[in-house]
Amino acid sequence: YTPLKKRAAAKGIIYGAAIRRGLLEENPKLAASFAQQCGILVPEWELKWNFLRPTPNKFDFTASDWLAKFARTHGMLYRGHTLVWHDALPKWFKEVVNRRNAEKVFVEHITTVAKHYAGQMHSWDVVNEAIETRDKRSDGLKNTPWLKFLGPDYIELAFRVAAQADPKALLVYNDTALEYNTPRDEARRNAVLKLLERLKSRGTPIHAFGIQSHLWATEKRFNPKVLRKFLADVASLGLKILVTELDVTDQDLPKDPKIRDRAVAAAYENYLSVVLDEKAVIAVLNWGFSDRDSWIAQYAPRKDNAPVRPLPFDSNLKPKLAWYAIARAFDRA
Ligand code: G3I
Repeated sequence: YTPLKKRAAAKGIIYGAAIRRGLLEENPKLAASFAQQCGILVPEWELKWNFLRPTPNKFDFTASDWLAKFARTHGMLYRGHTLVWHDALPKWFKEVVNRRNAEKVFVEHITTVAKHYAGQMHSWDVVNEAIETRDKRSDGLKNTPWLKFLGPDYIELAFRVAAQADPKALLVYNDTALEYNTPRDEARRNAVLKLLERLKSRGTPIHAFGIQSHLWATEKRFNPKVLRKFLADVASLGLKILVTELDVTDQDLPKDPKIRDRAVAAAYENYLSVVLDEKAVIAVLNWGFSDRDSWIAQYAPRKDNAPVRPLPFDSNLKPKLAWYAIARAFDRA
């Protein structure tokens, strides 16, 4: 059967997934299947601060370099996640970083990491998850250490520094919880649009928006028109769009795997049919490859403890209904 990357490529779209070095290293069958299906690889962990910065004065690129080489060897693109985030910071961060040295640490990190892969990265999530409307600021920004130390312009600064360090990479703002017709997602969509408009109006070198797309099979408040309009608004700013972290939580469905797989597949197909209708969408990535290794097992486990089934491949690397749903969505795009 034709792999997802080929079906996507036939429509000018890049398909891939997030993965961790350890998983590819320990499981040759997974490595082969990943290389067969994916045209782009993003490290799930290895480019985060806590992985790259074991101590304040050291950058350790070993794990990410391994993944970059794996991608290159198998003709895949490599994408970076993420230069700036409030999460996954190293333990030393709190003791070492303060108002006085924050800008130096920030600029040095972005410069060093983006330069290390300059010319080789398809795209960088320059800033991840900077919006939190529940923090009640008028600009919708989340109260993060970076906001506290550097003020709201830290986002613009990050893009400028990244562009200087790697002029070739597509620079992306990436965010979550934007997909549904709920008051919270609505507020977040508005805040994201405001942020993107502001960045563009100030001439910030931002090229794309990443919509994470962590979906819920049980969530009924999906409105194609609302999502379609949001994507069109983003595109009208001259930005490309990437679906960066697609998966479908099966948490509150009945235990029967057949029922869950049908609901998860339907959510994939519904969602992708709307998203792929927007011509600005250039890439779709799953957040993980097989059900065995999904972050959802840890973060949103099922109450009955049945193994979660949010991804296109099952734990034995057999394509599930979700795989066929994604394949159909690409074929129809
Ligand atoms: O550091 C230890 C590691 O040495 C050990 O092998 C492992 C064994 O479980 O534990 C490790 O810590 C893990 C850590 O990632 C590594 O940085 C934690 O258990 C794990 O909970 C943690 O979670 C990751 C999380 O981001 C924070 O970095 C998830 O796996 C990853 O899927 C998740 O990804 C995020 C995106 O970056 C941003 N969008 C949301 C998405 C899902 O939460």
